[in-house]
Amino acid sequence: MKRVTLVDVFKHRVTQKYLQRSGINHAVTVTGYAFEMALEEGVDPDLATKSALLHDMGHYEWYRDGKWDYEEYRKHDIHAIKGAERAHKLLVRLGEDRLVAKEVSLAVLLHTDSYLPFNLDDKRTTLQDVVTRADEKDEQPLGMHHYKKMDKSEAVQLLHALDQRIEQVLEQKEKLSG
Ligand SMILES: [Fe+2]
Repeated sequence: MKRVTLVDVFKHRVTQKYLQRSGINHAVTVTGYAFEMALEEGVDPDLATKSALLHDMGHYEWYRDGKWDYEEYRKHDIHAIKGAERAHKLLVRLGEDRLVAKEVSLAVLLHTDSYLPFNLDDKRTTLQDVVTRADEKDEQPLGMHHYKKMDKSEAVQLLHALDQRIEQVLEQKEKLSG
């Protein structure tokens, strides 16, 4: 089965629609961090990067009096739940393996515990932990990381380079497992 690439995922109109809200720059930056951390932790880089790219696709905008109201947003926020559902639907639509779609969806669901009545410390799988740490690494106060700019063409270039590195890692793994 041909691998669904990060570029395939990124270019889909559903991704384009939802990543505009949470920011392409943040999504792509976190994807890069997740790749490096996945290699360090022995986690599948395909799963880690897809989860990272889509982790914030459940975000929506919360404006009051025409202004972004971060505090109000936090109070009502369920972006991880919405994102998990959207990521799953999108990946299945792109022909992704169902187990991959489920793993990615779960990593999106659990990348933050800010909406939960309990914390997830020490409860995440290594994959889920990689995605969470990659996200936190790019976070800025008051959600400013969602406003960093990046052109779509630059994003495609960076994701394409990551796709090539992921395919190298996967090929090598396949060779080793004989
Ligand atoms: Fe994020």
